[in-house]
Amino acid sequence: MSFTVKIRQSDAPLAVEMGDTILTAALAADIDYPHGCQSGNCGACKSRLHAGEVEMSPYSDYALTDEEKDSGLVLACRAVPWSDCEIAWLEQDEVISHPLRKLDCKVVALEHMTHDIARLRLSIEAHGPFEFTAGQYARLHFPGQPPRDYSMASQPNEEILEFHIRMVPDGEVSSFVYQDLKLGDEVRVEGPYGISYLREKHAGPMVALAGGSGLAPVKSIVEAALAAGAEQPIHMYFGVRAEQDVYLEDHFQALAEKHANFSFEIVLSEPESATDRRCGYLADIMADDFEDMDGSKAYLAGPPVMVETCVGKLKEMRVRNEDCHADAFYTEAEKAKLEEAS
Ligand code: FES
Repeated sequence: MSFTVKIRQSDAPLAVEMGDTILTAALAADIDYPHGCQSGNCGACKSRLHAGEVEMSPYSDYALTDEEKDSGLVLACRAVPWSDCEIAWLEQDEVISHPLRKLDCKVVALEHMTHDIARLRLSIEAHGPFEFTAGQYARLHFPGQPPRDYSMASQPNEEILEFHIRMVPDGEVSSFVYQDLKLGDEVRVEGPYGISYLREKHAGPMVALAGGSGLAPVKSIVEAALAAGAEQPIHMYFGVRAEQDVYLEDHFQALAEKHANFSFEIVLSEPESATDRRCGYLADIMADDFEDMDGSKAYLAGPPVMVETCVGKLKEMRVRNEDCHADAFYTEAEKAKLEEAS
């Protein structure tokens, strides 16, 4: 008995015998499927499972992280079909591999951008360089504090790392950053992590949606795309609750003046006074502006409810699942609730 596997990059459907992996069958059929070790250790055969069920034989975390698995990625050399399937190997810019580093850094700037967002800048003192792709995040270890994940707001080639830290009510670590952290303090930075990074090869339109401190990775993605000479339309929306939450507006307006293909808009969800700005929820505002976004890539970062509603709306607007790159920011309290519920 066999299952039929449709490989998006190959014309003919592939028959995979029960118990065989997709890679074994593909190579036997002379399909040029990207691969390396064939034993679940290198990640070269990483693929997106679009439909169907597979069982994965054991593999290393290096080849496929839990985060990648949860987002629908599999290793073709470990994937044994349990039904007919549809799969695509990742194109070159879908695969990134940066060395995982533990950097010794020092605080060189710490400033309040709004009432509850601080911009932290760190210089790398040892164990660099830090290679990452715009949109990724790092684990920050502040002295005497449990580690916390924050996205890089800086671009990969910048010497100083920038992070945006939101003051979380009753948040142990953010309180430490606001009250105790000083210039010159040491911070360990571990990373990079994350799969919601810029796909530079994509030539279609881009939409970048940031909520609150989700501005950090979106800033890095948009700036890296523009610096790389992206010419496609890039629509960026920054959603915040009220006027007091707006920051870096001048910075993005200056970018919009410099790049004709880049537009930037601030959206208030709960304005406290009359305003000329657009008001509402990001998902609705975006749907007012565009009917059909077929062929676009979307990058989203912010509170989970914002990310979920925007991804839902993007799908209605014909953005494919694999073209939505989203990072939902959960607080420690939210994570604990989710764990309790699971
Ligand atoms: S070929 Fe190395 S992980 Fe599949």
